Amino acid sequence: MTEINAVTKLERDGDVAVLVLNSPPVNALSSNVRQGLYDGFKAAGASDAKAIVLICEGRTFIAGADITEFGAPGKPTASLLDVQAMMEDSPKPVIAAIHGTALGGGLEVALCAHYRVAVPSARLGLPEVALGLLPGAGGTQRLPRVVGVETALEMMTSGRHVPAPEAHKLGLVDELAPEGKLREAAVAFANKCVAENKPLVKISENNTKLQAAKGKPEIFAEFRKANARKFRGFDAPEANIKCIEAAVNTNSFEEGLAEERRLFGGLMSGAQSAAQRYYFFAERQANKIPDVPDDTPIREIKKVGVLGAGTMGGGISMNFANIGIPVTIVEMQKDALDRGLATIRKNYERSRGAKPEETEKRMSLLTGSLDMNDFADCDLIIEAVYERMDIKKDVFKKLDGIAKPGAILATNTSYLNIDEIAAVTKRPQDVIGMHFFSPANVMKLLEVVRGEKTGKDVIATAMKLAKKIGKVAALAGVCHGFIGNRMLSQRQREAQKLIMEGAMPWDVDRVLYDFGFPMGPFAMSDLAGLDIGWVKENSKGETLRDVLCEADRRGQKTGAGYYDYDENRVAKPSAFTEKAINDFIVKSGANPRKISDEEILERSIYPMINEGLKILEEGKAIRASDIDVVWVNGYGWPVYRGGPMFYGDLIGGPAKVLEKMKAFEAKMGDDFKPAPLLEKLAAEGKKFADLNK
Ligand code: CAA
Repeated sequence: MTEINAVTKLERDGDVAVLVLNSPPVNALSSNVRQGLYDGFKAAGASDAKAIVLICEGRTFIAGADITEFGAPGKPTASLLDVQAMMEDSPKPVIAAIHGTALGGGLEVALCAHYRVAVPSARLGLPEVALGLLPGAGGTQRLPRVVGVETALEMMTSGRHVPAPEAHKLGLVDELAPEGKLREAAVAFANKCVAENKPLVKISENNTKLQAAKGKPEIFAEFRKANARKFRGFDAPEANIKCIEAAVNTNSFEEGLAEERRLFGGLMSGAQSAAQRYYFFAERQANKIPDVPDDTPIREIKKVGVLGAGTMGGGISMNFANIGIPVTIVEMQKDALDRGLATIRKNYERSRGAKPEETEKRMSLLTGSLDMNDFADCDLIIEAVYERMDIKKDVFKKLDGIAKPGAILATNTSYLNIDEIAAVTKRPQDVIGMHFFSPANVMKLLEVVRGEKTGKDVIATAMKLAKKIGKVAALAGVCHGFIGNRMLSQRQREAQKLIMEGAMPWDVDRVLYDFGFPMGPFAMSDLAGLDIGWVKENSKGETLRDVLCEADRRGQKTGAGYYDYDENRVAKPSAFTEKAINDFIVKSGANPRKISDEEILERSIYPMINEGLKILEEGKAIRASDIDVVWVNGYGWPVYRGGPMFYGDLIGGPAKVLEKMKAFEAKMGDDFKPAPLLEKLAAEGKKFADLNK
């Protein structure tokens, strides 16, 4: 064995040199790794070995470029291109042995080996698009040469991690190795290459699959059209597509590479990728809780109870059934329970690629009941009942009497005081908020709310469980609406005020849609139903909502709300709503005025940032980036704008936000009162990002 450097060593297995990389946590291509690979391949080439295997230790093959080094001054070490050239041009067969993930630069390295061997559990992909980038080390030119243009388009614009068996079928993996026997299989494959004198395949030289797409611009046009909605607002998918177009339409691999380099540079220096790279780390940072260390013991969750089989309870239950955890769902009435279970089944059946046996397997994990005593053997019980404090207290008193010792009692409340709920039990340390977002089986966010007495192990369990069920968790403290809804209420208030000053609902919605939200607040209300919490008997036409609901305009479900809807549920501005709004304005004695798009955006977003600072100064969020994680995953904030706090820095930082808030305060009063922390940051010349340190 030769130690090449701190992260690479060269071993020998008969005639085969085995270059072993070990750079935890994910063998990312840091300068040290690149240098180790370069020197390692050089040493292997100079030795009398007849073939070379590249393999990694730890949890994974190379998971990509080292994102922490992006934007940092380059160190004078071997570049990735140097490493790749060394591999591709090697006169001895080079075999990449893949376990865990081969992602981004990691796959781009593997594509420069002459052959790839992988265990079935491995996954391969080019996920740069998720960082607002494209694969900048030849991946855009090599991948379509292996898997064809259509598959490359799909893989690169989705960033999907392709399972090794599928990659094998696509030709991306040459041989599947038995699980746990990767090194042996890769060495055997290398020996076979030598014995059979297999060709040294250089992907860059094989244009057959590109030829198939030459002269067919419709492949790209149709792909763009089919994905227009998904790609809306993002720069990176289009740049990825252009690279594949270049692979097809240029005359050489080198020309394609030059185009890749040009487009990569544009993305790398742009604001979107900066936001998306920031977000990558924000999401991981959100799991770190200063007083709950990573090694905090967690409670085992083998069975879950969910109280309520409505939209929320059903969606919550699906998350656990999806990962094989049995769920007891309790409802008060038999018909509500049956309806709830039937809806879950329908959701499974309707999900893309649903297989009947999968649906049955998941449904078999769900047990309906009308008796809360059936929660007695559950390790975690989540209540999703009507949002009223007296009801929640009653539920928790009952759960306290039923749940086994050590069970976690969670509430899905979106606003209520968890300490007050916990206080009715004899075990406040076991009580926590697990705030799912609707539809709970789809939305990524889980706001975990820690009460004053919530146990650290309970917090750690909820955070880890979130990851297991595929959610992104952020920790909040107890306050009205926690992080997300507390900030949302600022935007909602301004939206309502704006339409009473002269903007129309569709103006507000358009501005926020163009900003990048999937829909604006009024379209959202129509979707959710205007009559949530509205009581016909008490309605006296005093608010716009009263007037709309009284006219049976209760949202999409009644074919009309703020908007009119046609039979395909396409929204159109409504003359009824416009008149109703104008009537209110006239009645109030005010004059409607023309409101600019700029004002709509600023009044929607600046107060949210301001509220974010109040949340931080009260200690209800740990760091500014946690707030961004909440908004990206729970409210459709466009990830290419990082989140409200990141965006605050993008538009000029605390000083600019303060200036705007003061200007609005002077005109419109207390709703725009700057948070003390905003004043402080501005006075100290700091950024919002400084709150992440
Ligand atoms: N660079 C630097 N650090 C990275 C990293 C990378 N590419 N990928 C992961 N990490 C770090 C994480 O920040 C995390 O650090 P902490 O423990 O300090 O928080 C640690 O590695 C473990 O990561 P996860 O918590 O995400 O672990 P996981 O097991 O859930 O997932 C993973 C592993 C699938 C590899 C996931 O980390 C991931 O998707 N990583 C990013 C992969 C990627 O996007 N690669 C492309 C990079 S860009 C590129 O390669 C450009 C190019 O063309 C040259």
